[in-house]
Amino acid sequence: MNYNRENGKNTACKPIGIFDSGIGGLTVVKEIIKILPGEDILYLGDTARVPYGIRSPDTVMRYALENTEFLLHHGIKMLVVACNTVSAIGLDTLEKKTDIPVVGVLNPGAKAAIKATKKGRIGIIGTEATISSNAYQRAIRSLGNSTEVFGTACSLFVPLVEEGLFEGKITELIVERYLSDLKSRDIDTLVLGCTHYPMLKKQIRAFMGYGVILIDSAVETAQTVRDILTEAQLLNNTGSLPERRFFVTDSPGRFQRIGAAFLGNEITEIERVAIPRREQHRNFYQHQEER
Ligand code: DGL
Repeated sequence: MNYNRENGKNTACKPIGIFDSGIGGLTVVKEIIKILPGEDILYLGDTARVPYGIRSPDTVMRYALENTEFLLHHGIKMLVVACNTVSAIGLDTLEKKTDIPVVGVLNPGAKAAIKATKKGRIGIIGTEATISSNAYQRAIRSLGNSTEVFGTACSLFVPLVEEGLFEGKITELIVERYLSDLKSRDIDTLVLGCTHYPMLKKQIRAFMGYGVILIDSAVETAQTVRDILTEAQLLNNTGSLPERRFFVTDSPGRFQRIGAAFLGNEITEIERVAIPRREQHRNFYQHQEER
């Protein structure tokens, strides 16, 4: 890979841009901060339009393109699509929009699942859009031919997480309702195929039992981010205090409260922003530059 070689030094100081429909992508942010503590981060949570996973592919891609445009406009060195739904539906479309590296969460998760399974029986849980796209099933089968893959959409998991209901009776019942069928399939590996789901890990593990390995695509994605930045010589080695900015498209209160509980740190820099529709991009960004 040869990203921005001539400009490597300046480019390395730019932030990593990350987006998701809401707070789910913070699971990826957390892992990136853990292994790349010196990197500046720009996070966009499209909280006004969450959830993405129950919408049509067209709508999801429109949102994804608008979010991408927004982050590119802020001068990022890498784009991390911290959303399985978007990664499943159209990562390649986003890759065509830019020369910087674009990393999704689906392939790292699929690779880790293949590595982990002993029986060749893998479960995938994700949003309706992710599961019905069959993207995980395809990615896993392309890596391990004889693997059996069972997918289940868990549509209520995202609202549970956005509400901060990571555990408790209601969550327990919903987990049981969605995962009972998978439990009877004798799987030994379960991919948490939505970046919101690692926040429900404790309940999922309690229900599935310790014999089933849970694959958290956030961990795998962070490692992929580090590998790509290292290979492209784009790691920020300046040693300066990292800047982490968070943008949301609706009021920041809930994002701040639930996000902080999850990240284990107060999120101070949250800004509410308006994401222009694609047809308004030119005027919107031109106008911003003139100000
Ligand atoms: N967290 C995202 C994903 O990984 C999106 C969930 C949603 O908005 O439905 O799929």
